[in-house]
Amino acid sequence: MTETAQLARPDRARRPHPIREWGNAKFFQSMDWYMHRRLGARKRALFADLPPRVVELGSGTGASLRYLARGSRLVAIEPNSHAHKTLRRNAARYRIDLEIRDERAESIGLPSASVDAVICTLVLCTVDDPAAVLDEVHRILRPGGRFVFIEHVGSGRVPMRALQRLLRRPWRYAFDGCCLDRDTAATIAAAGFADVRIEHYRLGGVFVPVWPQISGVAVA
Ligand SMILES: C[S@@+](CC[C@H](N)C(=O)[O-])C[C@H]1O[C@@H](n2cnc3c(N)ncnc32)[C@H](O)[C@@H]1O
Repeated sequence: MTETAQLARPDRARRPHPIREWGNAKFFQSMDWYMHRRLGARKRALFADLPPRVVELGSGTGASLRYLARGSRLVAIEPNSHAHKTLRRNAARYRIDLEIRDERAESIGLPSASVDAVICTLVLCTVDDPAAVLDEVHRILRPGGRFVFIEHVGSGRVPMRALQRLLRRPWRYAFDGCCLDRDTAATIAAAGFADVRIEHYRLGGVFVPVWPQISGVAVA
């Protein structure tokens, strides 16, 4: 098995863990200002011309809502019910018309070719099966529809890669399934989109293992 294939394989499915899910919802809620500082400009640019109805995978407590146009409709695929209350509060704050679907992105209950844009930030690191999620994204997007993403990824550089491998298991435990070393760029590139543009960059800041990141747009 090649390294890429190894990194792209689904991880063993996790059972939901109420305490870690609650903790993660609280953590991302408290980190909102920090993520805004680190990723705000990038999100603003990527989300600038989204259509009025958008599907978001793993919305969490709503870290991306402030970058959507007021009055947008957001269908949030978010299986962590502990995040829903804050997500609703943020939707009201940023005047987003919100529908929460308590389901997993590996199996989205929306019709095929019914969506113009899907967004996701820091989610393909956490889902059980990124390739299955991307199949679903491809299925629900209309031809020409956009998948817009920001993800942290496995590093190709030796010291960072070693750090990510060292921390892989405790990080995954603490952050409710988050994998530090996924080759998400390769998984997106292999997902059958007509056009894929990916930028690799370094986030910087205090969370060193998630410095290697990608952002971009894939067109169905
Ligand atoms: C690291 S958090 C990111 C939250 C938010 N997108 C942000 O940028 O702050 C990952 C989110 O993905 C959600 N998630 C985990 N597994 C998922 C799945 N299979 N389908 C959809 N969302 C999932 C988690 O509940 C969590 O809200």
